Amino acid sequence: KKERQRPVRVYMDGCFDLMHYGHANALRQAKLLGDQLVVGVVSDEEIVANKGPPVLSMEERLTLVSGLKWVDEVIPNAPYEITEEFMNTLFSKYNIDYIIHGDDPCLLPDGTDAYALAKKAGRYKQIRRTEGVSSTDIVGRILQTFKHKEGVNENAGVKSCDQMKTQLSNFLPTSRRIMQFSNGQAPSPGARVVYIDGAFDLFHAGHVEILRSARQLGDFLLVGVHDDQSIREKRGYPPIMHLHERTLGVLACRYVDEVIIGAPLEVSRDMVCYKFL
Ligand code: CTP
Repeated sequence: KKERQRPVRVYMDGCFDLMHYGHANALRQAKLLGDQLVVGVVSDEEIVANKGPPVLSMEERLTLVSGLKWVDEVIPNAPYEITEEFMNTLFSKYNIDYIIHGDDPCLLPDGTDAYALAKKAGRYKQIRRTEGVSSTDIVGRILQTFKHKEGVNENAGVKSCDQMKTQLSNFLPTSRRIMQFSNGQAPSPGARVVYIDGAFDLFHAGHVEILRSARQLGDFLLVGVHDDQSIREKRGYPPIMHLHERTLGVLACRYVDEVIIGAPLEVSRDMVCYKFL
């Protein structure tokens, strides 16, 4: 990389609907394949045509993607398919060297590969898809949670509880993953540390905004993520994403410096004085 005149620029696109740590992990890996990461956020119309309607709007999806610490630039309203025309625009206007996607097949409605042209041009690279999470799975979890909450037992199309449990257990929180998402930086001496806490369930555009505002109040942002049991007791139903998943969602945000994994609901004097680092 060092002998090159200009930085290596890589492009990854996606819908990033109900953005989760699987998406964040994809972008983290993509960034490692170059120096600058440009992300194309697929337009609402293109998602409707290729996958069905998204849950989040273009604006919300853009806020979420731009808030990730590995993202350098975003291209709104990107196409779903890498067409010849769009590929040339990526090369000439955005100086893209490589187009990246996860190792899952990405097919167009006619069954052809959305990245076929990029592959043919020798400008395609792949990252490993993160197991155990997807937007579809999250929608399933939401339906499951509210089905129980409302006491509705009959609902065709919603997976059985056993199936859900299997899905939930697919995610294995490892210390390595947490390290990959962490900044690993302690606050410098005299830094003003800002503390904000919450559930941060289904990390959304409002979370990005509040974390940005909180970070602006000081030099170092410490986020307390409440544990599953406290959330369940407080709101009467469990969080959709469990503690480790919520922690990764928060850590992926560019405004966050450090996270307390399983913070108490009450901010005590002890905690404020706690030398956490
Ligand atoms: N991705 C990933 N791991 C996941 C989900 C997505 O690595 N668990 C990657 C995809 O391979 C793609 C990028 O994230 O390169 C954007 O994915 P997106 O277009 O949003 O859609 P899906 O692949 O369908 O992801 P999901 O099912 O979560 O919507």
